[in-house]
Formats: sequence, C-alpha cells, structure tokens
Amino acid sequence: DKGNYRHFMQKEIFEQPTVVAQALGRYLDPNAGTVCLPETPFDLANIPRITLIACGTSYYAAEVARYWIEQLARIPVDVDIASEFRYREPVYTEGGLAIFISQSGETADTLAALRHAKAAGQHIAALVNMPGSTMAREADVVLPIHAGPEIGVASTKAFTCQLAVLASLAVKLASAKGEINSNEEAGYVKELNHIPALMAEVLHHDEALQGIARSISTARDILFVGRGIHYPIAMEGALKLKEISYIHAEGYAAGELKHGPIALIDEHVPVIGIAPEDSLFDKTLSNLQEIMARQGKVVMFSDSETKQEGMFAQLKMPSAGFLSSAILYAIPVQLLAYYAAVEKGTDVDQPRNLAKSVTVE
Ligand code: M6R
Repeated sequence: DKGNYRHFMQKEIFEQPTVVAQALGRYLDPNAGTVCLPETPFDLANIPRITLIACGTSYYAAEVARYWIEQLARIPVDVDIASEFRYREPVYTEGGLAIFISQSGETADTLAALRHAKAAGQHIAALVNMPGSTMAREADVVLPIHAGPEIGVASTKAFTCQLAVLASLAVKLASAKGEINSNEEAGYVKELNHIPALMAEVLHHDEALQGIARSISTARDILFVGRGIHYPIAMEGALKLKEISYIHAEGYAAGELKHGPIALIDEHVPVIGIAPEDSLFDKTLSNLQEIMARQGKVVMFSDSETKQEGMFAQLKMPSAGFLSSAILYAIPVQLLAYYAAVEKGTDVDQPRNLAKSVTVE
C-alpha cells in the first residue's frame, strides 16, 4: 500500500527515519550506551581482516562502511563487487571475516561469492533485509537490517538501514578490540540514536530538491562528486539517478576530476557536490570552484552557511558527526533522483530493464 504517496520509492524514502530508528533499536542499548550484536561463533576482538562484498547500492554501503571500520576499529578492510570477487582468485587471510551485504539475500553474484569465501574457511556474516533468505541461511551470523519490505526497484531505505547496522558494527568491533573505551562507545551510541531525528530534518528539504531536480532533469549528463566517506554517496547518487531517470550520471572522487572528467564540463553539465564542512571541505570546495570556472552548473549539499558566489544552488544540511553524515547525505541524492524521474515521467518503481532481485550471474 502506497498510502498517500505517489510511488513506493517516495514512500520508502520518507519512511527512513522510522525504519532506521527500528533498525538501530535492535542494535543499540541507549541506557547502557553500548552496541549489542547477535552471538558470533568467532571472537570479535581478534579479526585480522574484513572483506565486504555486495552489488549495486549494497556495494556502496560497503564502501561507506570501510571508512567506519578502518578508522574506528583499525581492522584492514577490503571491499569488492560480488561479480568480480571470486574471479580474481582472492587471497584470504586465515580467520578473516567476510561480510555479504544484500537487501534481498538472494543476489546470485553475492551468493556465489559467499559460497566461495565459506569454502575457503572464512567466517561468514550476512547483512540482509530478508531474514529467511538463502544468504541468511548459509551464513555463520546474520545481521538483519529491519528495513521492512522494499518494493521500489531503486533501493533507498534498505541502503540507510544497511548503513545504520554497519555503523553499529564498526563501533562494536572497535570496543571489542579496545580501540575505543566505554565512554567513547556511549558517545557513538548517542550519535547513532540521533540519526532518525536528523533524517526527518533533511526530508523537510523535499520541495527545494524538487525544484533543483526540475532544473537539472533536461541534462544529458550529470556528475556527482564527493570526498572521503561521502565519495561512495556520490556514486550512490549517480546510480540512483541513472536507474530511474535514465540520465547518464557518474560518481567521482572530487579530487580525481582534474585527472580526466573535468574535460566534460561546460554549461550543460550539472555537478552535484556532496560537501559537508569536515576536514576535507576546503579541498572539495576548491574542486567545485574549478568546475564553476568552466561554466559547470554546481549544486552543493553542505552544512556550510556561507553563500558561494556563482553556485547554481546550495542545499543547507544539518551538521553531523562521523557516523551520521553519510547516512544523512544519502537522502538528498535519493530525492533528487526521484524528482528527476517524476519530471521525466519514467516508471519510477519499475524502471526499464531492471529487476528487484538479480538472481542470475
Ligand atoms: O538485493 P541486493 O542488495 O543484493 O541487490 C543488489 C543490487 O542489485 C541493488 O542494490 C541494485 O543496485 C538496486 N536496484 C539499486 O537501487
């Protein structure tokens, strides 16, 4: 049931504060200030290496999680696209943990990679939305994301719930290893708990994003750029836009633009900058200025209050910490894609050539 919404995708975007709160409710004990995971048949304090494997949007969740796990828990993390993973004859580390991220739990490539890692003796975790799925059954430990059924082919609420669970996992791994103390853990739990309220705040920008989407929906190509943990959000934004509006889009690390893609820029190419005011802000901003100097139409999503001369549009985001920021910036890229697709009159919930669950390799 779509309720008052025009599409399932729109409904699922707006459900995010609720379902992320639900997901976090299963993993956090706010009174104790701790993260609680299901029992694992291996020691969380002694994981030499983590491999994250997934496809599509779930793969971008893995890319975000790499920043959290490496920075908080100081465990080396590899991230792989499932369809490439086993063909490159990966070198496994003994006692390593392989985490498979999949909304459906049925994606053929991800499942094949899971079986490959399992046969090699890795510990297997499945982060899925469907608790009865094949991946959940074959894993040593299941981390459900509790997003509820996702109908739109374009993944939205499953993505942010995946991120919420992965952020909780990173905190747990860090505390198990002694990289953070109990005060720090409680601080992160507090930050995580606050995410749904901030998400609701971001959703109030609905109309502004509809306006921006309208003005970029005639473009043939759109670039999304970001740095650090927001680089995967840029890639997710490009994927979302491509799959439902059929506008060609690419996500780029902002610093990489000058090594090629800047040649594409002229007044017809909108560039969406994901630029929170963090330690990388000045660098991202200067990349965006290079684009404006070449007549690129820049739209910046940022918590920075400063009005930037020559920018086509700026969206004011709430300020957020290391665990919340990427989750919050997922929302404007989803809404931008959604409204661009509505503007173009595409079949938003059932885009051409795509299936909700890809069960062929
Ligand atoms: O069910 P899964 O999470 O394994 O699906 C992976 C991808 O097929 C999926 O995320 C796809 O990229 C979505 N259509 C993206 O919106």
